[in-house]
Amino acid sequence: MKKILITGGAGFIGSHVVRRFVTQYPNYQIFNLDALTYAGNLENIADVDKSPNYTFIKGDIVDADFITDLFQQHQFDGVLHLAAESHVDRSITDPLAFVKTNVIGTMNLLNAAKTIWKDNFEGKRFYHISTDEVYGSLGAEGLFTETTAYDPNSPYSASKASSDHFVRAYGETYGLPYVITNCSNNYGPNHFPEKLVPLFIHNIINNKPLPVYGDGKYTRDWLYVIDHAIAIDLVFHEGKNHETYNIGGFNEWQNIDLVKLLCRQMDTKLGRAAGESEKLITYVKDRPGHDLRYAIDASKINKELGWKPSVTFEQGLEKTIEWYLANEEWLRNVTSGDYQTYYQKQYL
Ligand code: NAD
Ligand code: TYD
Repeated sequence: MKKILITGGAGFIGSHVVRRFVTQYPNYQIFNLDALTYAGNLENIADVDKSPNYTFIKGDIVDADFITDLFQQHQFDGVLHLAAESHVDRSITDPLAFVKTNVIGTMNLLNAAKTIWKDNFEGKRFYHISTDEVYGSLGAEGLFTETTAYDPNSPYSASKASSDHFVRAYGETYGLPYVITNCSNNYGPNHFPEKLVPLFIHNIINNKPLPVYGDGKYTRDWLYVIDHAIAIDLVFHEGKNHETYNIGGFNEWQNIDLVKLLCRQMDTKLGRAAGESEKLITYVKDRPGHDLRYAIDASKINKELGWKPSVTFEQGLEKTIEWYLANEEWLRNVTSGDYQTYYQKQYL
């Protein structure tokens, strides 16, 4: 039975990856390591908690001794590393927290894997999950490919870029078998309401202003989170060692157009008059260092591994809205307590 470590499995994307691996691979023992920061929530994976091939471990990847002991104890065959500080706005307020988790935390996992797997890399794999934000910002034209030079602009993207470089360096220097994927913006169920889509769904439900940064013309490429989890499964099993794959939705939206689509869908779901939610749109001060445009060329994963998104944006957004409306208690739980302080500091 293979032992697989997934880090950050109580977070947004990690919870969908854990669910997929636990349910699709009963012959794997899945260990979910998560520090349960503000972004980690065991409710996200409550449905697989009792599965015989699943174990949750609460722990911090920044703690090197703890990570070394964990690898000694369990002798993992594979690692899918998703644990991270993931929000750009928080990285502007507290960059060091991002260096600790995203850079040092990744280093600790690399060192532990290198030590445990030494001289025996057969069947082993270190999979680092990263972001398209490492490539910086595009102008009106062009797409990020796997060979686009790194050019990070925010402390978040700089910390992820750094971790990507270390993973690659461990591959080149020590022969560590790794794969890296750089994915575009995800959306879907279990997304913490500090990011654009879940924050705006939450605010529309509660008739609160929708704070659009700057002129709203910033462009992102959006992917439904379950399609990302499917891509991660594919790359983990069929990707080539020492390779990078870009993952994207073939789905670019200017923020303001996305927000208007969201408002229209929410009006329908909430039985509000057409145009009601759009009245909540409020233009606010721009994010410093705001990247103009991200867009992914996902042709490599498409050609080599046959992956493509399974849902359109309209379908994915509708499923997302339905999930939030059906899980208002989840939303209430995560937006109580510290969330209020964060929101006050960020927006009021
Ligand atoms: P998230 O913030 O929702 O979840 C992160 C998880 O990591 C949480 O469960 C948190 O408790 C855990 N964590 C944080 N610090 C930790 C530490 N020191 N030790 C152990 N666990 C810790 O993030 P997400 O959006 O699910 O992103 C997951 C990964 O995917 C990240 O590496 C991120 O860079 C990458 N990514 C995210 C997106 C996106 O749109 N959300 C897109 C591309 C790539
Ligand atoms: P976000 O969800 O934070 O993802 P990222 O910054 O990683 O792309 O933001 C997506 C886009 O939405 C980005 O251009 C910033 C913008 N945005 C707003 O206009 N208002 C908000 O309140 C938030 C959180 C984001």
